[in-house]
Amino acid sequence: MKGQFSGKHVLVTGGGRGIGFEIARHFAQQGARMTIFDNVEDLLNDAAGTLTAQDYEVHPYRVDVSRQPDVLEAVDAAEEIAPIDILINNAGIASETPFLQIAAAEWKKIIDVNLTGMFFVAQAVCKKMAARNKGVVINMSSKNGMAGEFGYAHYDASKGGIIALTRTMALELAHVGIRVNAVCPGYLVTPMSAEIDPPEFVENFVDRYIPLNRYGKVEDVAPMFLFLAGDGASFITGQVFVIDGGQLAGQKAGAELLAKMAI
Ligand SMILES: NC(=O)c1ccc[n+]([C@@H]2O[C@H](COP(=O)([O-])OP(=O)(O)OC[C@H]3O[C@@H](n4cnc5c(N)ncnc54)[C@H](O)[C@@H]3O)[C@@H](O)[C@H]2O)c1
Repeated sequence: MKGQFSGKHVLVTGGGRGIGFEIARHFAQQGARMTIFDNVEDLLNDAAGTLTAQDYEVHPYRVDVSRQPDVLEAVDAAEEIAPIDILINNAGIASETPFLQIAAAEWKKIIDVNLTGMFFVAQAVCKKMAARNKGVVINMSSKNGMAGEFGYAHYDASKGGIIALTRTMALELAHVGIRVNAVCPGYLVTPMSAEIDPPEFVENFVDRYIPLNRYGKVEDVAPMFLFLAGDGASFITGQVFVIDGGQLAGQKAGAELLAKMAI
């Protein structure tokens, strides 16, 4: 398959569904050889089956990114197929609990997967990339890594940690030819968010907070990953890219303000 990424080997974590699957599909369409890590066997098989049916090359591995021995073994196996050129560090989980009620186990689970798991995969892959003096890493953060959200103290802390991790990785790995950036999506409707928020909540949320007046879709964020992984981004490292329909730009105008301004 010919395309912008033909001959490249791309690893996407959490590629079984949602944003990770869409990113994997986009890279595969552009000719990349794909490896997908996911900890849910059925999702992994469905994702691999869908992409293979379209004649894309896909190598699925069942991996829980929060378990370092499993990560090391799977990264070694993926490197046997071909050196990993691009890592999309996407796997993550979320839960909604007020700060005063977050139990230690819930806090630990979110940090273990979202932050420590990202570190385990990034370190294992970057050791291989550093030996070759080239590579690209894109870490999945969130607009919640840049601004707080009611009910998400643990998740927000993990996503803020990813931004800090990204910047230091970029500084330490630039001299071995590895670029590292982070992407911060805003509100996207995916299986993850649909499990937490009913449709009427989403409608109100959009109305109140998102200047572009709609929620995001996985197709809205996948192209940014291709751009950051490509040669056009060869002078970009240590940066954080927000895709949120304008939510973090400031307060969305309400009906009162629009009426006052006669808009
Ligand atoms: N949905 C949103 O609005 C939104 C916004 C900003 C950032 N994000 C981030 O994007 C990423 C993907 O989110 P999504 O909405 O597609 O979620 P999702 O739940 O739809 O997909 C996440 C995938 O990761 C896998 N996964 C979960 N834990 C794992 C583990 N321990 N090891 C390996 N794989 C694991 C899941 O099985 C699933 O296939 C997450 O990091 C999330 O925090 C999502």
